[in-house]
Amino acid sequence: MLVLGIETSCDETAAALVTDEREIRANVVLSQLDEHAPYGGIVPEIAARSHIEHLDGLIARAMRDAGAEFGDLDGVAVTAGPGLIGAVMVGLMTGKAVAGVHDLPFAAVNHLEGHALSARLSDADLQFPYLLLLVSGGHCQLLIVEGVARYRRLGTTIDDAAGEAFDKAAKLLELGYPGGPAIERAAEDGDGTRFKLPRPLKGRAGCDFSFSGLKTALLHKVRDLERGLDDGLRADLAASFQQAVADVVIDRCQNAIHTFQEAHPEGQFLVAGGGVVANSLLRARLKTLAEKNSLSLALPPLALCTDNAAMIAWAGIERLSLGLQDELNAIPRARWPLDSNAAPPPGAGRPGKLGPKA
Ligand code: KG4
Ligand code: ZN
Repeated sequence: MLVLGIETSCDETAAALVTDEREIRANVVLSQLDEHAPYGGIVPEIAARSHIEHLDGLIARAMRDAGAEFGDLDGVAVTAGPGLIGAVMVGLMTGKAVAGVHDLPFAAVNHLEGHALSARLSDADLQFPYLLLLVSGGHCQLLIVEGVARYRRLGTTIDDAAGEAFDKAAKLLELGYPGGPAIERAAEDGDGTRFKLPRPLKGRAGCDFSFSGLKTALLHKVRDLERGLDDGLRADLAASFQQAVADVVIDRCQNAIHTFQEAHPEGQFLVAGGGVVANSLLRARLKTLAEKNSLSLALPPLALCTDNAAMIAWAGIERLSLGLQDELNAIPRARWPLDSNAAPPPGAGRPGKLGPKA
């Protein structure tokens, strides 16, 4: 089975061709970073227009890379949400057009399901059920992946996603965007014990996350500096911040592991995905955590952790193989929780508080 995957839910335009034998025959991603940089954040209208401009060319390149024609395809899988609604619509309409014209099976994929199943694309031995930590710029969740289309969310963020917290902290420290890599680089020479920063929710029951208090604490530390920021202070603040984020994530993961092992004593894997998994400190801490709990750690290669269309094609393959085909009237969704039974996190929907991203 050869499936075309399309991803346009945020600021990456992506197309990929993947087979059910786990061969990634093409995987092209175009970042819009430069287009949004002058505005200091992602502008939804610019994202949608840029997807329109580039998507057709990117699909053509993916087909060329794979040496395939539309007639060789066995299906089309497209992100139908959650994400920026205008951006999602561009990919969804394009995917529907390809599927409609060539009369192909169609899968409207939840972007989070793409992340959730991507580790099974890189690791043929990864069996359900597994525990998934999903930490990116837009998402921060812990989920039990029981099977395709079977997710149990154990926790989510009640304010910022982990990557978003890195990005905001980097802005405060004048380190540029994207913040995660910049903080990690700055932290290399820093002393992570110099500044005392809070660990929101650490030691508390449950698996939810919160990062806004940590960001505010960092803001106060920067404001209190008598002679302003210099490189040495930046390094120590970045290292202290990174330590705090890692401590919180590991604490939340440990709680999730208890719940996972209680619900599924046969479960063997801890999986992590999302751009923040690029962080070496977090990777090392996850490794120790998995060993401590007798779990195998599966970290997909970074190209499959950050947003890409190969994971969408793969989720499409998993769904289509089970007969989970969608009609061409599938709707784009700005919000689309993977686990429709999950209760909203504490704080979501209350006046003045931001809910989770999905
Ligand atoms: O998964 P991703 O590419 O896109 C989203 O779906 O958001 O994740 C991007 C996020 C950004 O917030 C970025 O700052 C963060 O991942 N990130 C990192 C690192 N590399 C990227 N965070 C911490 N350490 C890193 N090395
Ligand atoms: Zn993503």
